[in-house]
Amino acid sequence: MTDDRNESRRDPYSDEFKKFIVSNWAPYPDALPGPLASAPYAAARRASLAGEFPGTTLVLPAGPLSPRSNDTDYRFRPHSAFAYYTGLGEDREPDAVLLVRDEVATLFFRPRAPRTDREFYADARYGEMWVGQRDSLEEMAAATGIECRDIRELATALAESDGPYAVIREADAAVNAQVDEARGDGDLPLMDAELARAASEARFTKDDYEIAELRRACAATAVGFEAVGRELPRAVRLGRGERWVEGIFALHARHLGNAVGYDTIAAGGDHANTLHWIRNDGELNDGDLILMDAGVEVDSLYTADITRTMPVSGRFSDPQRRVYEAVLAAQTAGIEACRAGAAFLDVHRAAVTVLAEFFAELGILPVTPEESMSPDGGQHRRWMVHGTSHHLGLDVHDCAQARAEHYRQGALRPGMVITVEPGIYFKSTDLLVPEEYRGIGVRIEDDILITDGDPVNLSDALPRSADAVEAWLADLRA
Ligand code: GLY
Ligand code: MN
Ligand code: MN
Repeated sequence: MTDDRNESRRDPYSDEFKKFIVSNWAPYPDALPGPLASAPYAAARRASLAGEFPGTTLVLPAGPLSPRSNDTDYRFRPHSAFAYYTGLGEDREPDAVLLVRDEVATLFFRPRAPRTDREFYADARYGEMWVGQRDSLEEMAAATGIECRDIRELATALAESDGPYAVIREADAAVNAQVDEARGDGDLPLMDAELARAASEARFTKDDYEIAELRRACAATAVGFEAVGRELPRAVRLGRGERWVEGIFALHARHLGNAVGYDTIAAGGDHANTLHWIRNDGELNDGDLILMDAGVEVDSLYTADITRTMPVSGRFSDPQRRVYEAVLAAQTAGIEACRAGAAFLDVHRAAVTVLAEFFAELGILPVTPEESMSPDGGQHRRWMVHGTSHHLGLDVHDCAQARAEHYRQGALRPGMVITVEPGIYFKSTDLLVPEEYRGIGVRIEDDILITDGDPVNLSDALPRSADAVEAWLADLRA
């Protein structure tokens, strides 16, 4: 579609057209929307953030559209810090900026222009004819509970606001420039890193709204996995089966949620041993496993992150089952370690100890499991080079700017949600691995809520044991 950005291709608008296009449209509705379910939670989060930065103007941009090619953009997704502190999900609100200073929050965004404005028909970024009817300032304020202003007033508002300033720097380069202009030479950009850290660490523990949304994401993801389980015979028949199941999952992600929370890994056979296999252009063959790592991001932008490894034919071979059961034992040990007060790294240690013992049993570990687990060892990592856990939330790898002493070296607290995702990756080219095990890759990944008591598996709607996976596939195909 040719749009207004392409002057070289656009028909000029005649004066007659300009008069005609603005006439005879229904009035905008008077009723304002109700508050978003997230609004009270977002207000509490803002208050807590402001409390960490008294007297500072905090700038949290949603980010701009990003071009995919030429004049076509990727579907918009706001920066997660903006989503967290405004409560806005879905594709809201390109170019918007949240300002927080002590008790006052202001949301700057581009409100709709009246239909008499050229924007209505000629602006592909904001115009109603192109992107649909946008919110007025009053409507957005009613939904978010935040005072709203036009984004074109941001530069003035920043200049008038007393420093110091801190901006979430990775969200929007144009807003960074405005903040830098306002702050002159006076403020330390160090404040920006402090804000990124605080906005990340605030998300370590989830509030009730977030836990409900993560449950919803896990439930939608289970629907996607069930559809994939059902489709495996067809994926084998059609060829390029990895792509087929990626598409089946994506259908449900878009149907039940906003999108996939990250690119789906649909890895048949030896492809499972390429950790970030997202090309997904391989065949699915009876006799192989498929490792599927996928998550639905719901409309609020919370995502699940689940991996299941399934036999394409419906039945594990003996070597596949043996590897699968070692991973399952490692994951069970990891989940068991997900307790308030335990170290984050205890989960990894518990899971990987089981794997090191398995590799020793198989006769491929050149040292004892204890030596392999020691800081000078690590030989077991040849077959599982990644970590076992990460925080999960608005980002699949949530809380990424947190300090290591609170994340990797930190302790688990009630309300945290982490993944537990050990794997074994025996590449087809690994000459140390007995031949019958080469080309087998298995990961099992679940999303675990830390509580005051036992860990809660948010993704337990999907089967974990080898027998349960086989029974589940048989049911889906019946
Ligand atoms: N799907 C990315 C991960 O498991 O961390
Ligand atoms: Mn993960
Ligand atoms: Mn994953």
